[in-house]
Amino acid sequence: MKPIKIKENIYWVGGIDWDIRNFHGYLTQRGTTYNAYLIIDEKITLIDTVKHYLFDEMLERISAVIDPSRIDYIVSNHVEMDHSGALPRIMEVASNAQIITSPNGEKGLRAHYKQNWNFQIMKTGETLNLGRRTLKFVHTPMIHWPDNMVTYLTDEKILFSNDAFGQHIASSERFENEFPLDIVLEEAAKYYANIVLPYSSQVLKTLNGIKDLEIEVIAPSHGVIWNSNISRIFDLYSKWASNDTNNKAVIVYDSMWGSTERIAIAVQDAFESKNIVTKLMNLRTNHISDIMTDILSARYICVGSPTLNNNILPTVAGFLSYLKGLAPKNRIALAFGSYGWSGQSVGQIEEILNECGFNTLEILRLQYIPSPEQLKDVTEKLSEVLNGTNI
Ligand code: FEO
Repeated sequence: MKPIKIKENIYWVGGIDWDIRNFHGYLTQRGTTYNAYLIIDEKITLIDTVKHYLFDEMLERISAVIDPSRIDYIVSNHVEMDHSGALPRIMEVASNAQIITSPNGEKGLRAHYKQNWNFQIMKTGETLNLGRRTLKFVHTPMIHWPDNMVTYLTDEKILFSNDAFGQHIASSERFENEFPLDIVLEEAAKYYANIVLPYSSQVLKTLNGIKDLEIEVIAPSHGVIWNSNISRIFDLYSKWASNDTNNKAVIVYDSMWGSTERIAIAVQDAFESKNIVTKLMNLRTNHISDIMTDILSARYICVGSPTLNNNILPTVAGFLSYLKGLAPKNRIALAFGSYGWSGQSVGQIEEILNECGFNTLEILRLQYIPSPEQLKDVTEKLSEVLNGTNI
């Protein structure tokens, strides 16, 4: 449980959650970290804490550097309990510490912990002198809670970005240039698609607000610290926040007796005939949070379900509810599926895709088991439609 030095007198003192596989519905197959950072200056400062059950791990790392009771400031960039859960216990140890946070941060922390802590509220742009160093605070409301802010260490040019630029990766490597970059970028995309995507307009404003800061290191609250590909992750955030997609179709479905799956493959054939990259994602074998990672870069979203009890299959309904909440924009969508007699599911899917604000193509609906001729017809007609879409 050693601290990791980031720069002289600046340490990572967080916790590693090797076992977590479900983060309120998000499949975290690589675990995660809760990153806390310690700055040793005339004023000793802790930036964020960890989830409550990793308090002892954080305390051990801090204690390897200084006596934790000497902490003067605890910066709370974000109230959510994966970052504030250890605050009550560290405040028992560092009982004279002041909590530095945003106005909404104070409200949120008071509502969570009912403690009369000593708060110092920072407006956006305000600074705090630590002695030789200075911290500057920038509010980032709704990325992804109302209280969010980021903290910039002006001297070492480190942005403590909290959830922004995070990735759910548990590893003993602390820096992005020590870890396979493709995995870091994949997990950063998954994080954006499942956590940040609904707040993309605020992300664009924030990127604008911090673009003049000279940043050498981004120290997020989850995963590895960006020390090499800073401009790359900024460019990706800008692309994702702009809902700028690729010529790619994600085909999401579930099937009872294989008919909807056959239609899904006929739909895939149509996209392939137009040289559009496709990904076929059966909801029985793909987690909705992984499907969202692919949807982040896909212009086309196709959703299929047979009709069950006058309704959409529950797996598909759950996915649609998740998709609607994450609110991707500027997509072209298609509803498809098989049916036996009543056949309501495809219309219901189309209604939800319309509520998402997508441009929907004409629905595809076939009774019982589609014949090879019917499937060929699906592919040919959809190919013709795709000629007329913005591809
Ligand atoms: Fe990592 Fe919004 O908490």
